[in-house]
Amino acid sequence: MLQTQALSSGFGLEVQDIDVSQPLSDAQFADIERTFFAGQVLVLRDQRLAPVQFVAFARRFGPPEPHVIDQFHHPADPNILILSNRKKDGQPVGLADAGTYFHTDYSYLQVPARATMLYSIEVPKVGGNTLFANQYAAYDDLPDALKQRIGPMIAVHHYGNRKVEDDMSRVAASPLTDEQKAKMPLITHPIVRSHPVTGRKSLYAVSGSSYGIVGMPENEAVALLDELAAHATQPKYQLSYAYRVGDVVIWDNASLLHSATLTDPDDPRTLWRITIKEPSTKLDALDVLAPTFVSGAM
Ligand SMILES: [Fe+2]
Repeated sequence: MLQTQALSSGFGLEVQDIDVSQPLSDAQFADIERTFFAGQVLVLRDQRLAPVQFVAFARRFGPPEPHVIDQFHHPADPNILILSNRKKDGQPVGLADAGTYFHTDYSYLQVPARATMLYSIEVPKVGGNTLFANQYAAYDDLPDALKQRIGPMIAVHHYGNRKVEDDMSRVAASPLTDEQKAKMPLITHPIVRSHPVTGRKSLYAVSGSSYGIVGMPENEAVALLDELAAHATQPKYQLSYAYRVGDVVIWDNASLLHSATLTDPDDPRTLWRITIKEPSTKLDALDVLAPTFVSGAM
């Protein structure tokens, strides 16, 4: 059995005495995976990983998917996205501000992210925390009438942050080139989603990439999504995680919202990120976009 320590009273687990640079047996990994889905956020301290080792560990959770922002893929492996505010010869070496608003990863894709892993290389002197908000608890606490009302609703997603119109804002989604934008379709996901592994219901991506609700006028849909997002991101559902060098942090995108926090651009920070997608076979009914919505409300 793994030795774990709670990161907060609500959720999040730190696993002690484990080295994921070495191959893990199926039984060892099954323990880690079980702990991950139970804790929603899993922290492994004091890791030393080469790119190949980090990717090999990530693959145990599912298929990694390179990020659409391909200019900051790690040269050793495109599955790793470099998050960094460092510059080399005046050019950024990584994505400096990524996801500084509540969202869930790849909710703008047909097959969204199961897990996101960050490996902490360099920690700023101040800040740099990731905030997580527990969407199981946020759903559980909704009044029954609201649960029934939103139960059948399907949200429309695309790449971006619903709350910010200026692409160049530090709290906007990282800007895409025209070529990258062309790869980003409209996608639908249920607002209340049964977790593909645990089966538990949670609110899904009510903040971030959700821009509308199928069959509902846009202003009404956005007002409802805003109301749900305000509920779902209350401090009582949150955990704020402060990184140390060598941390590997893995989070469950199906049951959490998360937000990066802005740091001083001159205070160096570097992380490597791998995003792991859900197995596509479990998502059959989620992704059929009503054509009337495309031509109508957006
Ligand atoms: Fe993110």
